[in-house]
Amino acid sequence: MTPVLDVDRLLDELTVAEKASLTSGSSFWYTAPVERLGIPAIMVSDGPHGLRAQPRESDHVGLAGSLPATCFPTASAIASSWNPGLLHRIGQALAQEARACNLSVILGPGINMKRSPLCGRNFEYFSEDPFLAGELAVGIVDGIQSRGVGTSVKHYAANNQETDRLRVDAQVDERTLREIYLPAFERVVRAAQPWTIMCAYNKVNGRSASENTWLLSTVLREEFGFEGLIVSDWGAVYRRVPALLAGLDLEMPPALGRSPEAVVAAVESGEVPTEVLDARVRKVLELVAKGMPVLDLEESFDEDTHHALAREAAAESVVLLKNDGLLPLAPDAGIAVIGEFARTPRFQGAGSSQVTPTRVDVLLDELREVYGEVPFAAGYGIGETGGDAALREEAEQVARAAGTVIMVIGLPGADESEGFDRTHMNLPANQLAALRAVAAANPDVVVVLVNGSTVILGEVTAHAKALVEAWLGGQAAGGGIADVLTGAVNPSGRLAESVPHRMEDNSAHLNFPGDSQVVRYGEGLFIGYRGYDRGRQDVAFPFGFGLSYTSFGLSDLKVLVRGSVTEGNLEATVTVTVSNTGGVAGAEVVQVYVDDVESSVTRPVRELKGFAKVHLAAGASREVSIELDRRAFAFWSARHSDWVVEAGEFVIAVGHHSRDLPLTATVRIEAPSLAAPLTRDSTLQEWMSDPAGRQLVEEEVENGQPAAVLQDELLSVIGTMPMSTLANFGGMSLDHDALDRIAEAWRQPRRAS
Ligand code: BGC
Repeated sequence: MTPVLDVDRLLDELTVAEKASLTSGSSFWYTAPVERLGIPAIMVSDGPHGLRAQPRESDHVGLAGSLPATCFPTASAIASSWNPGLLHRIGQALAQEARACNLSVILGPGINMKRSPLCGRNFEYFSEDPFLAGELAVGIVDGIQSRGVGTSVKHYAANNQETDRLRVDAQVDERTLREIYLPAFERVVRAAQPWTIMCAYNKVNGRSASENTWLLSTVLREEFGFEGLIVSDWGAVYRRVPALLAGLDLEMPPALGRSPEAVVAAVESGEVPTEVLDARVRKVLELVAKGMPVLDLEESFDEDTHHALAREAAAESVVLLKNDGLLPLAPDAGIAVIGEFARTPRFQGAGSSQVTPTRVDVLLDELREVYGEVPFAAGYGIGETGGDAALREEAEQVARAAGTVIMVIGLPGADESEGFDRTHMNLPANQLAALRAVAAANPDVVVVLVNGSTVILGEVTAHAKALVEAWLGGQAAGGGIADVLTGAVNPSGRLAESVPHRMEDNSAHLNFPGDSQVVRYGEGLFIGYRGYDRGRQDVAFPFGFGLSYTSFGLSDLKVLVRGSVTEGNLEATVTVTVSNTGGVAGAEVVQVYVDDVESSVTRPVRELKGFAKVHLAAGASREVSIELDRRAFAFWSARHSDWVVEAGEFVIAVGHHSRDLPLTATVRIEAPSLAAPLTRDSTLQEWMSDPAGRQLVEEEVENGQPAAVLQDELLSVIGTMPMSTLANFGGMSLDHDALDRIAEAWRQPRRAS
């Protein structure tokens, strides 16, 4: 896009004070204008699944009102669609709504990893898997930006809990950051160049994200190639000058009367070089240039069309977890609806992402539209304790008289929100008591769940013949859920997060949410399914799981590996045939996992590296191809400070979800050895696992006392000792002279090559 501002000229003409003012906003939602030079203020606003535009009011927790906007499904919900194309379309709609209120940058999406199911803000995040989160983020960012509106991908980085979120120090080893917490950001930066990235509130390894030079400048700018602007989360700048120096371009909201003055003083004292301030101002001006065309628009959006898209998205977000034949509902099912949430919908979460919806679908009304008069009982109160016995009794009566019961239960708003974490994963006791009573009165119960984060489902699954996870599906959730129940839409959602049997099964449990302002990511790489798989733990519903009203078959797996590690162009194409083997049209999500069989480092059992959502008519088949790049095989090597692919076998597993992978192919990848050079201080095992090294040791030892050192048994006991230590021990014919000889001999051929 041609910048409307001449950035270079402006940088020449702006005074230091004006430049400093530009690096903070002018108010809660606006950048700073410089009227003298024709630099306007542009507006930014939440949020990820619907606009929270507050042209006159301001708060960051959604307490004050905002302009009516379409509330699309929250991130937990929409991630279950596994459909970046759908996110792209939602992005375009969000952008249109932004254009209609002259808003230049939407503060979203949130792409933090779901490290623990307890994070209060999980409903605003996509997944426990970085690959899936990255692909979905690309979809929505591309969608929004294709309509000339910017995004702010947040919260960079390691913001995976709400407890003490402004102060907590997330202590994460680099490999875990690189493989789990940063890849979604990396992917979206490389593929979609968001206009802005929002830094997190928390510290990462001892440094506030806003002051973290390594995160902001080294990794985000230099390595990932981020070209846009880095903005603070609202209030995440604790020390203005260190933040500016670390790479933060824009402080929001501004600390007026403090920040600009501090920046001017730091430039005058030489603490901040002029080029650094100019680099930050350049990013602000480039953002304003991209965002200012929106200021003059006189556009609107069509509420009906957007509501229809929200309904389609809500239906595609639904994950069918169990179905003993009750769904789709038969026309003569004789349904009754139970559950306050069917009448008083919970469709979004609280905090900065809270939208003032243009309208709200009510599931009960939607079902009545289809089935005529439908009996209803509340069954429980939301967040109340009194009156439950009477409500239960009424529900029992309604259930007894019904053919099939649709029972809606879920988490009350007070249970999960921005600002705090959950302390348990249970559904409210009064709702479970109501479910027990209803199921005793009528076993034909379909349970519909409304919740932003996963809940413990053991008892629910036992009492439900069909179980529908509907998440917080946005303002049209009522309609979308009805579409799935009636069969107007065949569910195609798949879990973007595992559902454990117990909260304690989750790998982060021992270290969540930390204490004394520190949280140690002790489980390392093993969050979500990576943890359950490594611990060989049974889960209630695995990552990637979801049923359909039809069935799918997979066949003819082929994996074609191209290029090479040495040339840096390793790639693979995974081809598989998907068949709809049931009686109705539907969509399967083909999932590709990679397992590095031979590895010198501990790796997850398998990791999602590709997927494709395939729509098929009943009886139809299609061949799909999924591309894997080099990264699909690589791990972050702490020793090499780089991504490396090791030689050896990799299993490519293809299937329906992370624990149902019927097709596998083993490929062998050739790659240069990553072993460190052998020296006097290498261990006996390291010497023995290198063919040339082994030969040298054997020759040397055979000259002396053959048996001793090389017996397997002894090797396993002393094998981890450095050779130099063994040489001290004597008696093994490996004295220091012998060691010098073999170390030199091992180096010789390498020196020559
Ligand atoms: C949240 C951000 C949000 C900002 C502005 C902060 O408290 O963490 O996600 O965009 O407020 O409302």
